[in-house]
Amino acid sequence: MSLTASLASKAVLIFGGTSGIGLAAAQQAKAAGAEVTVVGFDAAGAERVAADNGFAGWRAADVTQPDTITAAVAGLARVDHLVLLAGTFVAGSVLEADVAYLRRAFEERIWAAVATLRALGDRLAPDASITFISGALADRPTAGGTAILAAASAAMEAFARGLALELAPRRVNTLSPGTTDTPLLARTLGANRDAYVASVTEKLPLRRLGTADEVGAAVVFLMSNGFMNGETLHVDGGSRLV
Ligand SMILES: NC(=O)c1ccc[n+]([C@@H]2O[C@H](COP(=O)([O-])OP(=O)(O)OC[C@H]3O[C@@H](n4cnc5c(N)ncnc54)[C@H](OP(=O)(O)O)[C@@H]3O)[C@@H](O)[C@H]2O)c1
Repeated sequence: MSLTASLASKAVLIFGGTSGIGLAAAQQAKAAGAEVTVVGFDAAGAERVAADNGFAGWRAADVTQPDTITAAVAGLARVDHLVLLAGTFVAGSVLEADVAYLRRAFEERIWAAVATLRALGDRLAPDASITFISGALADRPTAGGTAILAAASAAMEAFARGLALELAPRRVNTLSPGTTDTPLLARTLGANRDAYVASVTEKLPLRRLGTADEVGAAVVFLMSNGFMNGETLHVDGGSRLV
């Protein structure tokens, strides 16, 4: 039996499910029969995405604000698969950037996960899966102001391993994508997006970025394979090799 068949009628909650990797995961989970609720920052956008894709529901929250997470999950009776992908590309010099801004890398990741888990409590099914996101930066930081984001990403991987024990028998994994072609690139780089993509891709083994569908499929794999636990899954086209 295809393992994705296990997602039929399961309640899937995806923070960051309104765009990019999270949206691709949401679409694929729905195609496998799951009841998908997506959470985004922008309420109007989340409502539109949910309607366009036939998702079971949508919510808006700012994951750096725990009260909004609590409000977003208030009406949910049960969550079988929780995916936490909401986040931005926080980049800045450790010595010069605004510290409150740099802290955001951890607020969007570690502390958002803590707030979400506490808000859901026992509504997270006893056999639930939880999937976090890190990124290739966790293994290969760059000199361009990514040290804090690299640290926050690596922290998610360690946090997942600890939670896999603390929340057992719930499963907890982290997905680590290489650079993936999503709206995040234009959101972060603006008019410099195309030049950045050209400079990066020429150095990569596959000479291209990952697609949201390729990375989203790995999220669905971590949800649906009941023996994946405490793992960091790299989906990066071999970018860590160069
Ligand atoms: N793309 C890459 O190359 C790459 C590589 C490694 C890791 N990642 C990580 O993967 C995750 C998803 O990235 P993506 O490329 O799919 O990005 P994306 O297309 O920009 O999507 C980001 C998602 O997160 C939501 N979001 C952002 N800030 C939020 C906040 N404060 N509260 C609630 N929701 C918020 C967005 O909602 P709205 O649309 O409403 O703003 C959207 O649903 C991010 O955490 C990113 O750091 C991405």
